[in-house]
Amino acid sequence: MLAESMTDLAAQIVAASDPVSRRLVIRVRQPLNGIGEWLAASAVSVAAPVGDVRVFRDSASLADALAVNGAEQWAGRDGELRLLACLQAGDIVIASEDGGEVHAVGVVRGAYRHSAADSRHAVDVSWWTDTLPQRIHAPPGWRYQEICEARREILQSLMMEGRRIEALPEPPFGEIVSRVAAAGMRLPETIVRRYHVALRTRGFVVLAGVSGTGKTWLAELYAKAVGARHLVVPVAPNWTANEDLLGYLNPLDGAFHATAFTLFLEGAAREHREAKEQGRAPIRYHLILDEMNLARPEHYFAKFLSAMELRSRSADGEAAVELAPGRSVPLPSNLAFVGTVNVDETTHGFADKVYDRAQLVELGIPREALVAHLGDRPHAVRLMAVWDAVSGVAPFAYRVLDDVTAYVETSAELGVRWQEALDEQVLQKVLPKLKGNDGRVGEALARLAESCGDDLPMSRARVRTMFDGFQAHGFASFF
Ligand SMILES: Nc1ncnc2c1ncn2[C@@H]1O[C@H](COP(=O)(O)OP(=O)(O)OP(=O)(O)O)[C@@H](O)[C@H]1O
Ligand SMILES: [Mg+2]
Repeated sequence: MLAESMTDLAAQIVAASDPVSRRLVIRVRQPLNGIGEWLAASAVSVAAPVGDVRVFRDSASLADALAVNGAEQWAGRDGELRLLACLQAGDIVIASEDGGEVHAVGVVRGAYRHSAADSRHAVDVSWWTDTLPQRIHAPPGWRYQEICEARREILQSLMMEGRRIEALPEPPFGEIVSRVAAAGMRLPETIVRRYHVALRTRGFVVLAGVSGTGKTWLAELYAKAVGARHLVVPVAPNWTANEDLLGYLNPLDGAFHATAFTLFLEGAAREHREAKEQGRAPIRYHLILDEMNLARPEHYFAKFLSAMELRSRSADGEAAVELAPGRSVPLPSNLAFVGTVNVDETTHGFADKVYDRAQLVELGIPREALVAHLGDRPHAVRLMAVWDAVSGVAPFAYRVLDDVTAYVETSAELGVRWQEALDEQVLQKVLPKLKGNDGRVGEALARLAESCGDDLPMSRARVRTMFDGFQAHGFASFF
């Protein structure tokens, strides 16, 4: 197995428990003689006096076999073995003991295997132990030896809480710039500097720009470059109130249902308090609200907008936000907010109060940078001619360039000429975005008709149809 860093593993574990790609999670009791054996073997492994568990029809027959083999200690533990046998690569396992003490969290790497020689039943696992053991507040229904969902926020808080690394001194600005560039991001140094200073002075920065200009990527890369912990929270269009972001207090059981966002806030506040007690600089926390204007920030972010104002006026740079009645969290000075916004007709404009409280940094798409990004690829010149024709009304950026390049290169492996592949890409990725009754759309179509020569016939034909439609009805549309 490849050696993996604890950070990579932690990221995999948290990603695997994302609700979108929900995985099954088994909690495993650690072996009697401690977890060391499992960690050393990179596995969950138990010795039980039966053969391959999968040949037993049901739990009862497995229980019978265990009883026949006289292993008293195995009475009632057939369920455990059956669960082990149904684990699959990608599942998450949590090794914990009574009282919610977690010893290790791991990603399953292979299917169940049985060794007849030593009656071992095992599954390979990459174990993450960085800041463990730690006690967690296990939710009701969370029992040993069962497959259940491990909520993402529990894993996430487990992987961040208790991380007692010293805050590293922040690297000098030049070093930050080279770390961002080393990741392959094309960004003028002035933009990195503006982002850097804006974060320092305001603590709330909005990164704006066309889709695929690197807004989310910059927020993440910069946080890594300065050694800040970060959390990307995707904003959903149906968010209308503070509770969508913060969680809520359930009136029935009186329990507060936290979100990853609130756990992260509490983590930042805890770190700030502890750093102060220990007389050291706190680790920075960057909370990234991704696609922040899919919903209205004045609604779901209202509490923060006012708390940020209080924070900037207070002597110690702190203000508190009430998460729910009776539960509030301070907004400490080591916490910064970053929002990414993609201003187009599908998103909400911001109220002035949002701009007033933020620093806005726009990521542009300079033509020279796109040309440099395409390099000497065969389709570079023609693709830039398409860009020139449409950039005023339907601009595209690095993500689309990378997609087109990947498409052209994959097509070439099947013997398709780049001209043909590019023709398909203009049709599939560029033309659908050209729509509306703005006179500039008509001009863009006219320019495009010219720049799609004989070698982009499908695109040219479609552009002509769209242009005719625009002239006849004053409206352009792909469909
Ligand atoms: N400045 C850049 N230099 C090189 N590649 C880039 C740059 N920006 C974006 N990319 C490429 O495009 C991909 C998408 O970037 P990212 O997700 O950060 O865009 P975004 O601006 O957040 O877009 P959206 O508004 O659609 O969320 C990146 O993973 C990277 O491959
Ligand atoms: Mg993004």
